[in-house]
Amino acid sequence: MSRPPLKTQLALPLVFAVLFGLAWYLLYHFRPELSPLATEQEKVSHAANVWASTLVSIACLMSLALVAVRALNELAFLVFRKRKGYDAPALMRDLFSLVLYVTAVAFILRYTLELSFAALLPGSALLGIILGLALQDTLGNLFSGISLHADKPFQVGDVITVGKHMGVVMSITWRAVKIKTFSNLIVLVSNSSIAKESIEVAPRDGQNARTVPFSALYTDSPVKVIHAVREAVREADNVLRYMTPVVRIRHLADSGVEYEVKYWLSDYARHHDTDALIRQRIWYAFRRSGFTFAYPTRTLYMEQPAPAGGDGHNTETLAELLSAVDIFSPLTADELNALAVGATGRVFAPGETIIRAGDSGASMFIVHRGSVDVRVDSNGTPRTIKRLGEGAFFGEMALFTGEPRTASVVAAEETEVLEIGHESMRGLFQTNPDLVEALSHTINERRAGLAASTPTAHGDDDTPAGLLSKIKRFFRLD
Ligand code: CMP
Repeated sequence: MSRPPLKTQLALPLVFAVLFGLAWYLLYHFRPELSPLATEQEKVSHAANVWASTLVSIACLMSLALVAVRALNELAFLVFRKRKGYDAPALMRDLFSLVLYVTAVAFILRYTLELSFAALLPGSALLGIILGLALQDTLGNLFSGISLHADKPFQVGDVITVGKHMGVVMSITWRAVKIKTFSNLIVLVSNSSIAKESIEVAPRDGQNARTVPFSALYTDSPVKVIHAVREAVREADNVLRYMTPVVRIRHLADSGVEYEVKYWLSDYARHHDTDALIRQRIWYAFRRSGFTFAYPTRTLYMEQPAPAGGDGHNTETLAELLSAVDIFSPLTADELNALAVGATGRVFAPGETIIRAGDSGASMFIVHRGSVDVRVDSNGTPRTIKRLGEGAFFGEMALFTGEPRTASVVAAEETEVLEIGHESMRGLFQTNPDLVEALSHTINERRAGLAASTPTAHGDDDTPAGLLSKIKRFFRLD
């Protein structure tokens, strides 16, 4: 509830002050003289005049005190607002006024009736006990309100949850906290019950986050789902621009992969609408990317022979992919088919290690989709020396020489590779001696690249001819 403007607050007490002041002046001016020979009648009328003018002067001073306290209150809390940037709580304003009123009344009684507070104390002690008992709950609220203000756990505009009520704080008075729920209801929660309950606070200017769950089918790639949803929600209305939403897998459930998107809001009071908007954005992102929401289903799989390559690609597609790789271009269609039958497709998440330096290796890989980083150890920290994209191959060095892996290879993004084993290559080498030469050439180049990047770590000193015969020996081709 807002306060009336200062002019309205001051007008009435000022009018009263002027009227009482005038009355006091008239009473004082027309006060009958009291001579020693005055009659009883004159004495009574003089005493009545003195009493009346004292009462009128008290009324006038009280009206002036009212004006002064209201003006002071307004001034003090104007300064408060300027310095803190928000309105002082009603309770603080009321307490401030109360202290000023009590002080003013004490002064007025002291100078008009010559009454001191000490004289009022014995009577007020008894009154205090009676009032204390009668106002037990009210006083409990008042002191809880005072401690609420000292603690400042929340302020006007914050969203709080107390017991079963959640809403925006409208005001904090000496008796209760008024909140407006999201169904536009006003709830008054007494200060003493707030002091007893646990309160959940979403500060008005805080970085408050929400999570919205959703789920997708197991066949939808998590990397793609996460990327699509993150991009779809980051620009939504009321989502903080400088905090990138987080999308993560929450659970691998029966009917699908459960995700959640965590986002930060500019205005927490609008979180229901924003949650709804986020769900809407997710739906559209799914529609655009061809993902499917998971729902409880039971799928019956009829067992079928595994497709060639074991990755869902048929032999023809695999052979076509392999023909696009430089070193396999001289191979005939039959040879490519034979290679495709022995190839296996594998998918890796971004950051996953496909090959680890130092391991032994009996297969090589072709990047079918995505890209990989070739990493070497540089004084204890991994350093990328090369990024290989679609159509490139890796892992050939250990496969063809029988030596440990020379570097680690890590997926730079979601990457699909085709793995080709030792036996498939051996068959090819026997019919394609040129292939061995082409590969030994690449291996030599890569060794040179490795030596340039890690001069101390690599000590291979094979000549091109030496390397060629090493490969032949390893594959028992002579
Ligand atoms: P291998 O040694 O089996 O395992 C690590 C792989 O990283 C290696 O085979 C190569 O395929 C690849 N590799 C090593 N050095 C380089 C380089 N300089 N350029 C490109 N690829 C490389």
